[in-house]
Amino acid sequence: MERKLIEDVLPVDVISRDAGIEMSFKPTPSYLARCRELGLPHPGRKFFDPKIRSLLPWLARRSRAVARALNLAAILPAATPPDLYLRMLGFSKEQLPALVAAGYPPLLSYARPEVDPSLLESVVIMDPMAGGGTIPLEAAILGARTIAGDYNPVAFLILRATVEWPARYGPDLYRRVREEARALIAFAREALAPYYGGEDRGYLILRQALSDSGPIPLVSSVILGRGIALQLNGGRPRLAPASVRGPTRRDLIEPWIQQHRAMMQGNPDLLITHRVVAVQERGGFRPAREEDQELLRRALEANMASLPLLPDTDLPEDNRIFRKIRALGSYRYLFNPRQALAMGRLIRYVRERVRALAREDPEFGAAVATYLAFGLCRLADFNSILTSWNERQGTIRDALGSYYKFRELRLEGVYAEAVVPYRTLEWIFEPDAERETAGGICPVLKELTRSLRGDLGGRIQIFMMDALQLSRHFRRLADVINVDPPYFDVHGYSDFSEFFWPILQTTLEEALPVLFGGRVLLDWSPAMRTAPRQHEVIGRMGREDEEFEGRLAQALQEMREALKDDGLLVLWFSHRELKAWQAVARALHRSRFTVVNVIPLVSEHPTRSVTRGGRGGIHRVLVVVARKAEFAPVVDIDTLRERFLAQLQKARLFPHERIDPAEMETLASALEILFREA
Ligand SMILES: C[S@@+](CC[C@H](N)C(=O)[O-])C[C@H]1O[C@@H](n2cnc3c(N)ncnc32)[C@H](O)[C@@H]1O
Repeated sequence: MERKLIEDVLPVDVISRDAGIEMSFKPTPSYLARCRELGLPHPGRKFFDPKIRSLLPWLARRSRAVARALNLAAILPAATPPDLYLRMLGFSKEQLPALVAAGYPPLLSYARPEVDPSLLESVVIMDPMAGGGTIPLEAAILGARTIAGDYNPVAFLILRATVEWPARYGPDLYRRVREEARALIAFAREALAPYYGGEDRGYLILRQALSDSGPIPLVSSVILGRGIALQLNGGRPRLAPASVRGPTRRDLIEPWIQQHRAMMQGNPDLLITHRVVAVQERGGFRPAREEDQELLRRALEANMASLPLLPDTDLPEDNRIFRKIRALGSYRYLFNPRQALAMGRLIRYVRERVRALAREDPEFGAAVATYLAFGLCRLADFNSILTSWNERQGTIRDALGSYYKFRELRLEGVYAEAVVPYRTLEWIFEPDAERETAGGICPVLKELTRSLRGDLGGRIQIFMMDALQLSRHFRRLADVINVDPPYFDVHGYSDFSEFFWPILQTTLEEALPVLFGGRVLLDWSPAMRTAPRQHEVIGRMGREDEEFEGRLAQALQEMREALKDDGLLVLWFSHRELKAWQAVARALHRSRFTVVNVIPLVSEHPTRSVTRGGRGGIHRVLVVVARKAEFAPVVDIDTLRERFLAQLQKARLFPHERIDPAEMETLASALEILFREA
């Protein structure tokens, strides 16, 4: 059995540095610093940087550099020299300057791997828990046969949209989506213009609960920006200097919800529950006027004349992120009248396009429509009553921003409303962005069709599948299973996905048989209102230890069956609590894998709160490389430990990072747990 490079020493410093800057949220300063480190002249401060996360938010997206590096290292022989390996990854003296000169950031993910296609032609790389698609995307870019899936229907669609369709349809797909996006934006401008001020950039809306003595605001002041607040006590809203936000009257949320529902069901007197208090314009905010509220009323009247087409999905009882807003009852009440009108008309429009596109070519049409529906999901994220005002950045905090902050969706005293027809849709799709992007869907698609080689032979296969039942469909087939499972209790993917699923289900209703047909390898159908939960490999609060360990052990047993006897398991994991590591180690042991290497790599940037970074957080991931126990070579644990500790020193976010000793200690203990238990 040939030892692979991944069982040996990797250049973790170069890979980690790339991953650190790739994953940062505001990366320009890091890109510039990286250009200086590499001695690369850069034409300006702007970089063309379309990130796959802009297609649709998904939790726990990982670094593409790390995914590419691990996929390739699992294929190459152990003796491959580091320089050659880095060049094959795309990290070459020729490629990086050319990338930067063309306006891209100096990142591996934009470079082309320099690998002889014959090397990977017959190699199968599988990721059965692929989420946002980083690992299969990089496998496909390398040219390997790629099998990927996820248990969640939203992730399944993201996987098709990120890997399969751009490879299969190439630039035609990009051109068609761009055309459709332009038409959608034009439609929105026409259909929604009467309900928004043409120069407006956003609205702040105060929640008020109606009492016998009149409306009571749920908050008395809101900070708009540095030192400036909107006072909302009685009478007209006033701008005033202030730096402290008034608390939200949480006791009034429930009555407010009931009144909001009654208004949405047709009681116009209750429109007072949503009071426009400030309008954002080019130069800043102005206090709202009567006519601003009038636009909202006009939307309510339009809705009363013709009910907006919104998902009528009950907010699921067992969804933890909806816990605080469950009294809203149905998904359709996540919107104010104007938001509902905008969402409803756009959903109706895209549904018509779904039909028309299907007449031309059902498969291609369903693919095109999915990107449009993703755009509507992103719109819902910024255009619902679950948004809030981010006073520090002077921007709308999206609904999911509240998930990232609190792990649940919440209603604050004030929310922010986007100006859908003029600004938001344009930003979501960016159909005309060529050299700059602020996160639109079209530039990502363009980039994906550039970097994927095409897939005429069906070498990329995507499924909605359950890792706990993998062997029913795949046996002794994969050379490499590269998998990044949920990290213990960190996220509930099904809960999160149910913010998007109702929109996708309603918008794509007629295309669902084409999108899901023959691809669902579990007992679930796209007619279902909720995402499957039963086999999700996560630890839900209170019983996380056994639940997570048991499910992960079962998933790993199944992966063992899907792996060839000389295949490699590459498992990513990170957590700050040792009990999580114990669960992973025991699961590996129970599924009869032997650990043959552990590689520390940077996984996420500290500015991201998702891994619970910051103080006491862990910014590195440990990549556990394992083989089926009966085929594993004997490894010397002392050598592995020594190598690991040396590599840990090098796996830095930036060259002079002083890795927090607490993190070092946690990861060193994790390693011992892996050796002891697994
Ligand atoms: C950490 S995320 C993967 C993120 C991905 N590597 C990326 O970069 O976007 C873990 C994924 O496992 C999926 N998952 C959880 N239980 C599963 C199961 N039983 N079968 C398949 N996938 C599952 C979740 O839906 C989630 O998308």
